[in-house]
Amino acid sequence: MRLGPLTLQSNLFLSPLAGYTNLPFRLAVREVGGLDLATTDLVNARSLLENNPKALKLIQTCPADRPLAVQLFGSVPEEMRDAALRLESIGIASVDINMGCPVRKVCRVGGGSAMMMELDRTAQLVKTMVDALKIPVTAKMRLGWDDDNITAPDLARALEDAGASAIFVHGRTREQGFGGAVNLAGIRAVVGAVKNIPVIGNGDVTTPEAARQMFDQTGCAGVSIGRGAFYNPWIFLHTRHYLETGELLPEPGFDQRVRVMCRHLDLMIEIFGEELGCRMFRKVAPWYAKRFGPANEFNKRVVLVCSRAEFHEVLQNYRRWRAQFLDSNGELKPRFQPQPMVASFMQEPAVAHRDHIPVPKGPVEVW
Ligand SMILES: Cc1cc2nc3c(=O)[nH]c(=O)nc-3n(C[C@H](O)[C@H](O)[C@H](O)COP(=O)(O)O)c2cc1C
Repeated sequence: MRLGPLTLQSNLFLSPLAGYTNLPFRLAVREVGGLDLATTDLVNARSLLENNPKALKLIQTCPADRPLAVQLFGSVPEEMRDAALRLESIGIASVDINMGCPVRKVCRVGGGSAMMMELDRTAQLVKTMVDALKIPVTAKMRLGWDDDNITAPDLARALEDAGASAIFVHGRTREQGFGGAVNLAGIRAVVGAVKNIPVIGNGDVTTPEAARQMFDQTGCAGVSIGRGAFYNPWIFLHTRHYLETGELLPEPGFDQRVRVMCRHLDLMIEIFGEELGCRMFRKVAPWYAKRFGPANEFNKRVVLVCSRAEFHEVLQNYRRWRAQFLDSNGELKPRFQPQPMVASFMQEPAVAHRDHIPVPKGPVEVW
């Protein structure tokens, strides 16, 4: 898989998830395997140029976290170019431009999904960046503003002409938010619109089969996975295995999940310090717990932890409580096992009830 001059070992990507895809999470997923290019949370180009400490923290990386793309947002071409040049100078492999963020704060200043409505201006911005950089410039967009304004195919073509190296497309409109099913035909239209550059499909991929279906039905060159990696940090490894061999590996068991969760917490503490790392982990741990079976006892307590010792105490108490749901082999009794994950675009239209992937709460509610 190539993004312009950059050769990658995998066509599976980690999507940017503001508030989550920080260095500890990326390292935890990379250690599990199957991932090559990961992307940071979105970073305000101007804040980066102003050395804002929060922006600098967002681009924090280390040799084990390579190759890394940084996602920038902003609408002033010179600022975007200068921020990207700075990223290039510190060894960042690729720069992605956020064109899909529906958050008002981002759209108000002409960034995020507002860019999808202004093709010429956006193409000019990309050209300004491409002309100055050696590393690839990519763009991440939604299908369009709403169903009446599906701009992604035209925008993708215009950005290819401006020199973009790849297009990442979440198969929903801005108006859709995270509701409804991902529109694979919409992604296919973007694939059909570009001449040479790869299009990477995105949205609701939580299983290897869903990734396979996205490849098959859209013709995309790669698949990018966001929330699916929360549930299942093995998704990259298992999807690669499935794509290469057709064999579905079993879902990791409770002990394996707990091992990765604890490693993730250790990395959070290493990188953010014990107090902040534990506080930040309060919203992360319940994502692991979604595949633990009954977990309310864990979720209730983990949102209060302030230290590693407290976390391990919560975990130990939870193990004892969880024992009531296990059979004599130590496996969850069938009625307590979590439901299999099914992507929105793989469900039968006749199914009345769709289980949407939850969208995390907090400042990211508006995504
Ligand atoms: C909590 C959260 C934060 C997100 N942050 C970003 C972001 O910083 N930049 C971006 O382009 N997309 C962002 N997205 C969108 C995701 O990258 C992705 O397009 C979307 O979640 C659909 O993919 P998924 O179903 O695999 O999660 C965010 C989504 C969520 C749920």
